[in-house]
Amino acid sequence: MSATIIDGRAVSLQIEDELKVRIDALGQSGVRPHLVVVLVGDDAASHVYVRNKQRACERTGVISTRMDLPSSSTQQEVLDIISDLNNDESVHGILVQSPLPPRMDELQIADAIDPRKDVDGFHPTNLGRLVQGDTDGMLPCTPAGIMRLLEETGANLTGSKAVVLGRSRIVGMPMALLLAQKGIDATVTIVHSRSEEHSLLCRDSDLLVAAIGRPGTVKSEWVKPGAIVIDVGVSRIEDGSVPSGSRLAGDVDPSVSEVAGWLTPVPGGVGPMTIAMLLTNTVRAAENLST
Ligand code: GUN
Repeated sequence: MSATIIDGRAVSLQIEDELKVRIDALGQSGVRPHLVVVLVGDDAASHVYVRNKQRACERTGVISTRMDLPSSSTQQEVLDIISDLNNDESVHGILVQSPLPPRMDELQIADAIDPRKDVDGFHPTNLGRLVQGDTDGMLPCTPAGIMRLLEETGANLTGSKAVVLGRSRIVGMPMALLLAQKGIDATVTIVHSRSEEHSLLCRDSDLLVAAIGRPGTVKSEWVKPGAIVIDVGVSRIEDGSVPSGSRLAGDVDPSVSEVAGWLTPVPGGVGPMTIAMLLTNTVRAAENLST
């Protein structure tokens, strides 16, 4: 058997088309959604992600402003910038790209962003709403994008067993909440570095979301035949498989495509959906702030 590939790029382009209609409608009332991305330091992968976010803004008509700060910036400098952006009526969305330099407190920074402009969905108010079962607010982009990809499979997840591999603030924890919410009703297990029998827990699941950032971790023996496998990992590796040197690799070993029923590719699966959800949150913020 060979897994059906879930084309995140195609779905993200559909979402962009739907957003363009809403962006046009905002334009009729003189509003153009405006996203500000703050990038601190010179993490190479972050620069690529931010460039992709800016390109998506250009395609859809969202204004994007990028603020590049040196890695020597202080926590207070970032907090002051956020305060200015919170008070700037021309700004609808604020995103501080993670990871920040290690001495910075990411939680304090997430806390400082006006929840109405928190297009990452990382503010405690927005995460708290999610815990309360309210999924109409700003949802974290990667888990929200994955929920949309799961719709593509047509699978009914009620009562299904789902494993989320990884417990990060950005992906794993909110992902588990979204899968367990009323109306989706999966039975969710969070598997992390201190869990035992990773492979057995994964093999018992109908849905596996791998978000640990370790290339090729999920082997074909870890996967139940026919399961849905969502690969969130994006790592750059040099394994000699391409003449040009390095390539992108997910957390899921390529052999899994022989066992899974559905599989997201890397690149072209979850990544474009994260950006589509960021645009969605930015448009939503502009709509909410301008009415
Ligand atoms: N770094 C990796 N993914 C993300 C994301 O979704 N948002 C932010 N702010 N930083 C990230």
